[in-house]
Amino acid sequence: MSLRSQYCGQVTEAQLGQTVSLCGWVHRRRDHGGVIFIDLRDREGLVQVVCDPDRAAMFATAEGLRNEFCVQVQGLVRPRPAGTENEGMTSGRIEVLCHDITVLNASVTPPFQLDDDNLSETTRLTHRVLDLRRPQMQHNLKLRYRVAMAVRRFLDAQGFIDIETPMLTKSTPEGARDYLVPSRVHDGEFFALPQSPQLFKQMLMVSGFDRYYQITKCFRDEDLRADRQPEFTQIDCETSFLSEQEIRDLFETMIRGVFKDVLGVELANPYPVMTYGEAMARFGSDKPDLRVKMEFTELTDVMGDVDFKVFSGPATTPGGRVVALRVPGGGEMSRSEIDAYTEFVKIYGAKGLAWIKVNEIEKGRDGLQSPIVKNLHDAAIAAILARSGAQNGDLLFFGADKAKIVNDAIGALRVKIGHSDFGKSHGLFEDAWKPLWVVDFPMFEFDEDNQRWVAVHHPFTAPKDGHEELMDSAPEKCIAKSYDMVLNGWEIGGGSVRIHRAEVQSKVFSALKIGPDEARAKFGFLLDALQYGAPPHGGIAFGLDRIVTMMTGAQSIRDVIAFPKTQRAQCLLTNAPSPVDEKQLKELHIRLRNPQPQA
Ligand code: AMO
Ligand code: AMP
Repeated sequence: MSLRSQYCGQVTEAQLGQTVSLCGWVHRRRDHGGVIFIDLRDREGLVQVVCDPDRAAMFATAEGLRNEFCVQVQGLVRPRPAGTENEGMTSGRIEVLCHDITVLNASVTPPFQLDDDNLSETTRLTHRVLDLRRPQMQHNLKLRYRVAMAVRRFLDAQGFIDIETPMLTKSTPEGARDYLVPSRVHDGEFFALPQSPQLFKQMLMVSGFDRYYQITKCFRDEDLRADRQPEFTQIDCETSFLSEQEIRDLFETMIRGVFKDVLGVELANPYPVMTYGEAMARFGSDKPDLRVKMEFTELTDVMGDVDFKVFSGPATTPGGRVVALRVPGGGEMSRSEIDAYTEFVKIYGAKGLAWIKVNEIEKGRDGLQSPIVKNLHDAAIAAILARSGAQNGDLLFFGADKAKIVNDAIGALRVKIGHSDFGKSHGLFEDAWKPLWVVDFPMFEFDEDNQRWVAVHHPFTAPKDGHEELMDSAPEKCIAKSYDMVLNGWEIGGGSVRIHRAEVQSKVFSALKIGPDEARAKFGFLLDALQYGAPPHGGIAFGLDRIVTMMTGAQSIRDVIAFPKTQRAQCLLTNAPSPVDEKQLKELHIRLRNPQPQA
């Protein structure tokens, strides 16, 4: 007989009266006055095993079992006694009367209880092997696999082929810091790990593969947050001969299918499409969370001549912005809540958070309660109330500063209030899946630190038809054929139509002040490839980790990656990164600036 006849978590009434052979881990052992109950666990769930003392040898083994022992149980499937069924689990109507137990392997005492919900992330990541045994983690990784399989099935059916691209390569153009790998063979030279397969997938289009995809690792040395990892996985796709609209339709269909297959959820069909300009105007964000039912009210044009520098300054300074955020029902917020939000927006660089409570709108300015109305003339007040649609009982918050600060601060405030208990109890949050496309991103943005234009997406993104000339004359007005897929406030994918003609590519490089020598050194291989009849092409890459994080409802991207890095870009399980031998360094022609004491 083989070790195992089925998974623990899948034994059901279908096996009643049968003898089964189960393998798994002791999740819990309970002694009930002479009878021992074991919850036996495997990746499919738990099953209850009952050990009666009448089989003495088996019972003695059962008494010796401890949590996380790996055991084989043979026994008879029988109904649970009436009243003890557990409808919450697949095996909840049956139990296994144990005939024989074999300890396949004992376990030392685990450092924590697997069902402890208050474990620190440090503990979990240090003991990741045990952490991954927890049902939630098993669920997350299985769901991740189902997403990847749904993607593969869809893309395969659409004629996409999976082609691997190198990990040891050259710097790619996504603009984050590279992870470098020193070359032993070539003194002083380095490989870069790919930030994405971008350049390779474009070359595969030139090679005629027409439809490529890959589910692959990308590496970016950037500041980490809940939705970022230094190595993460992209569903990376590229196609030839499709328009921007066709590309978006195809991948919208893919993601809609994934949600349907894996969660049974129907996403909007079609997704709403919003330009970057509209998203920034209404939500202060290029990845708006459309579950939150509040929008910005634009006030920049009416605050230029008010007697309140905080507003008139930004309203009359190029690049400044003044907006209000209307919070329906917010009039009941206390001073301390307003103060807390004022502190919150400071994280984003806001200097303050002016507010107006709308008590009795029919009384005009006398019906408003606020530290700032005395400084606003009637026309300004009238515009605020009319444009925001304010009603009695509402609160208006204001942001006034450089547009970026206002967008970041009031955009974050909008989400914060929307997600709060207040927002949820006041109908400001709709618990739903809210996807959208954000399109028509600018080609370039001005990098203040380095005083130069940089590509918003990457320098191979095509400008909108008719925008080629703007690259020289007015780069800030030049719009790209690029698009992001956004879901509930997260950017889950982004892509673009690429430049396939050399003269347009040269214009972009010149707008970015990338000289011919620099372009050649960095991307010469791609530029050469583009000369051989490169087809019109474009694509997209999705963040698999992010999609799965959202689908599982996990707190962090780290909960859907088997072996993730911490916020400080370390692996607590293996203790990487770690010092290496002097001998290894020497082979790599490397001398450390701050040598570590040798262990
Ligand atoms: P982009 O840089 O927008 O585009 O990346 C595509 C998607 O990858 C995810 N993502 C990340 N997920 C986790 N951790 C990170 N550090 C991280 N960085 C990005 C996001 C993002 O939408 N080559 C282009 C794609 C293209 O043009 O086809 C690219 O890499 O969900
Ligand atoms: P002050 O005149 O500095 O006392 O500010 C009056 C009100 O304006 C206070 O409620 C401040 O929180 C608010 N405030 C100050 N600076 C800003 C700003 N840049 N944007 C919005 N509100 C502000």
